[in-house]
Formats: sequence, C-alpha cells, structure tokens
Amino acid sequence: MEGLTGELRNAEEELRTLRRELIQASKMAELGTIAATMVHELKQPLFGIKSFAQMMLEKLPEDSPFKKKVAQIIEQSVRMEEIIRRIREFSRKSGEATFFDINEPIGAALELLAHGLRKSNIRVLRGLSPELPKIKGDFNQIEQVFINLIDNARDAIEGINGGMIGVETRQGTENQGVEAVVYDNGYGIPEEFRNNVFKSFFTTKEKEKGTGLGLFICQEIIRDHGGEIRLLGSEEITREINEGAVTAFKIKLPKADLQGDGNGR
Ligand SMILES: Nc1ncnc2c1ncn2[C@@H]1O[C@H](COP(=O)(O)OP(=O)(O)OP(=O)(O)O)[C@@H](O)[C@H]1O
Ligand SMILES: [Mg+2]
Repeated sequence: MEGLTGELRNAEEELRTLRRELIQASKMAELGTIAATMVHELKQPLFGIKSFAQMMLEKLPEDSPFKKKVAQIIEQSVRMEEIIRRIREFSRKSGEATFFDINEPIGAALELLAHGLRKSNIRVLRGLSPELPKIKGDFNQIEQVFINLIDNARDAIEGINGGMIGVETRQGTENQGVEAVVYDNGYGIPEEFRNNVFKSFFTTKEKEKGTGLGLFICQEIIRDHGGEIRLLGSEEITREINEGAVTAFKIKLPKADLQGDGNGR
C-alpha cells in the first residue's frame, strides 16, 4: 500500500514538473514572438530617425558644433539596424530539417566568403574529412554558424601578415557524430573574456563592427541541433590542431538517425 502511494506521489510530482516545463516552454515561445514583432515594429521609426539625421547632417553648416552629434545619431542608428537584422534573421522560422554532410554548409560558407578572404590575403586551410556520417537539421542555420565563426576569425587576423583560417572536420570520438573546428592565428581571446564570448551582446569590437550576437546565435543553433560548441583551451589547441593556431572553436553534432523520419538530401 505504502509503495503504491509513493509511486502515485512520484507520478503526481512528475506531472507537476512536466506542466511547469510546458508552461515555461510556451512562455518562451510567446516571448520569441513578441521579440520578433517588436524588432519588426522598431524598423520603421528607426529608419525615420536615421533619414532625418542624414538630412540634418547635409543641411548643417560645415563649422556647426552639432555636426559630430548628428553623425553619432546616424552611427548609432546603423548599429541598431544591424542588431535588428541579426535578431530577425535568427527568429525567422527554421526551414525543414534535412540530412546532409557537415562539409556541405562549410563549403557553402567558405564559398560565400572566399572573395573577401582572397582579397585580404588570408590563407584558408581546409581539412575536411570525407565520408562523414550525415547530420540532420537546418542547412542554412548550420551554414550561418560557420559564416559567423569565419567572420570572427577574419576580424581577428585583420592587418596581420600571414593570417590564416583553418576549418577541419572529423568523425566524433567513440563514433558519436561529427566534429568541426574553426581556428585562426589572430589576436586571440584574453583569459578574462573566455567566459563571456558566447553571451548575447558581448563584443570587444568597435561600434560599427560588432553586435555581439554572432557567437550567441551559433550556440543557440548548435544546441537546437542537439550539439555543443566551445572555445578550446591552449593545451587542446596544441594537442589537436596544426601549426600556429591561436584561437579555435569546436563544434560537436550528433549523427542523424537515418532510419528515422525526414527527407534525405
Ligand atoms: N576568432 C576570434 N579571435 C579573437 N576574438 C574572438 C574570436 N571570435 C570571437 N572573439 C571575441 O568574442 C567576441 C564576441 O564574438 P561575437 O561573434 O559573438 O560578436 P562580434 O563578432 O563582436 O559581433 P557580431 O558577430 O555580432 O558582428 C568578439 O567581440 C571578440 O572579442
Ligand atoms: Mg562575430
């Protein structure tokens, strides 16, 4: 009798937890919708502010003491526009999940950025392992992750002679899915920032350059895909990666269950 009551109590407790989680999940979904709407609504007024400021800047006499302030209004509006663009991009509904080789979105990201990288004389090292197990998910989102990582690497080596960016993929240890590493030999991440880089709006870049959302978005996308992304420590870099890498991010993704549902690519 005691046992049965105990079991019942446990089941009840479990149900309560489940209910709480459900409410929390729907609140989060609602919050997401509010954020998306808000960001959309902010676009127009912001565009107005920027346009009026631009008009003012043109009309102000060369020696006006207000010129600098008005230029700052424009600068800040551009920054807000960039934040809005990124949040909208992120909150857009994800596409249908498909099966693909992780090398494909990596190739697409590199192709997209190739021109700029070539122009800046950046050496790109590709170590993409063939015949990896397929992963399942949103191709464009995974491509976005690599675009963000390569963008950061490029910023970190800007102005450095002999800048290099490497992308490697390999089968996960113990046959658990796939791993990808993006590394560079740029200015590196100081110890005191290591715990902050994935936080939303954390940036060390100038106003016009960074919103601080890149790595946050990467982490959200990778988690959504059942994986993890982390910054490698210096010993791990020496152990795992070739010549001269300074900063490296590693992604792990589970391999797809090809027996399950989904439409193969
Ligand atoms: N490869 C890297 N080398 C050195 N520092 C890096 C690297 N990647 C990220 N960081 C640091 O982490 C911070 C956060 O990166 P994140 O991509 O989230 O934002 P951001 O690049 O500053 O802005 P955004 O990506 O929105 O344009 C950067 O400002 C930079 O200080
Ligand atoms: Mg970035």
